[in-house]
Amino acid sequence: MAKRFPEGFLWGGATAANQLEGGYNLGGKGLSTADMIPFIPKDERDGDNAVHITSEQFEEAFKEDSKKLYPKRWGVDFYHHYKEDIALFGEMGFKTFRLSISWARIFPNGDDLHPNEEGLQFYDNIFEELAKYNIEPLVTLSHYEMPAALVKKYNGWIDRKVINMFTKYAETVFKRYRNKVKYWLTFNEINAIALAPYNGGGLITDRFENIEQAIYQALHHQFIASATAVKLCREIIPNAKVGCMLARLETYPETCNPLDVLKTLKQEQMNFFYTDVQVRGYYPNFIKEYFRENNINIIMEETDEDTLLQNRVDYISFSYYMSLVESAGPHGERAPGNLFSGLKNPYLESSDWGWQIDAVGLRVTLNKLYDRYQVPLFVVENGLGAIDTPDDNGMIQDDYRINYLREHIVQMREAISDGVELMGYTSWGPIDIISVSTSEVSKRYGFIYVDIDDHGNGSFKRTKKKSFEWYKEVINSNGQVL
Ligand code: BG6
Repeated sequence: MAKRFPEGFLWGGATAANQLEGGYNLGGKGLSTADMIPFIPKDERDGDNAVHITSEQFEEAFKEDSKKLYPKRWGVDFYHHYKEDIALFGEMGFKTFRLSISWARIFPNGDDLHPNEEGLQFYDNIFEELAKYNIEPLVTLSHYEMPAALVKKYNGWIDRKVINMFTKYAETVFKRYRNKVKYWLTFNEINAIALAPYNGGGLITDRFENIEQAIYQALHHQFIASATAVKLCREIIPNAKVGCMLARLETYPETCNPLDVLKTLKQEQMNFFYTDVQVRGYYPNFIKEYFRENNINIIMEETDEDTLLQNRVDYISFSYYMSLVESAGPHGERAPGNLFSGLKNPYLESSDWGWQIDAVGLRVTLNKLYDRYQVPLFVVENGLGAIDTPDDNGMIQDDYRINYLREHIVQMREAISDGVELMGYTSWGPIDIISVSTSEVSKRYGFIYVDIDDHGNGSFKRTKKKSFEWYKEVINSNGQVL
């Protein structure tokens, strides 16, 4: 029998408010942590990523006369283009659209007494527009941003009080959108906090003496906030499905040397730690040992363990862009990733940004996750960031992107026939958006091209790429025509 995607498979695309919306100071929105990340030209970067900011850069970003560029403030101006963009998603036949709500649009300072009605109305408009095309929203509560005021006042997620502010925000949006949104995610790539503490947790590294201690304490607060949001969501929207979200780092041993295998196992455990807590409901022994060995002491309240156990997620969503390689040493050449990196794999090709392309790894990872947890899975990010150059007719012939996506979709189909329960697939950045790691727009993922450059110059005009018609056919055939 031919291998098939199940009926009702949720095909679509995924975005985040801070990379998409723009309108950073419109409709009563407060500044968010993402609005404070300056653009750093490639030749001035320390490595390929530009996600760490200093206290000085953070303070500078509040000044109206700052000469720096902050690309996430303009995004691709979905704020004014959402009707046109959603119509294009509808034309492709999207079944779902993953977006995040900007917390600072709802509570501009994070600790406000009342929500900002204009911000709530903005998302009402979006959900109503999606409904016109029968597109189910898939909403992330926190995607790499929080109100900047919470960093200024409370130092981000290190402060336990932030849990209450977050759950008030979550409760507000669950109540407001209870009839409009069924699929929810709590924290995007919750494991990113370990390597990008500012993006993940609003932690500015130079403010902490022991950043690792701060990271795991802030993460604990996020686990509790996430579990509390799960509880609230179940009470307010009984038919809702709430998931966690992991940057899945499929890691291979460099050789069959048992030491490489052991090192890889340890690395994989550190990646599974987050889903272990959110799906199984408790901290696994290996992380407790890691904390003990590294003098990390997490302050917990008496009810925390019960909160985690009682409020486990319904499904696991994850991002998958590449696989990594680990070795017990000596270490060979390294290959970059967005926030994570590993060793070079000689069997794989790389993207324009050096990320190692590994479609089979997606099948491996789907099987591994399903074997470990036996809950439904959802691939909520996958895609190819590439330089797109319009041809003489102004068209983007992005066969490289089609090939990347096709190969990954084939492997998802294989995984389903291996027995994996897969709810859907939302490719990253169905319309070009600002890169999280480098704040460029010239790193493009979309089926839809947006005419702007890294400095925000351009007409913001939308144009369909070749991949647009291709993805439309994929969805229309439920993954049979690739
Ligand atoms: C994921 C993030 O890590 O990778 C997205 O959840 C991000 O926000 C995506 O955009 C791709 O990374 P980048 O750096 O190419 O934008």
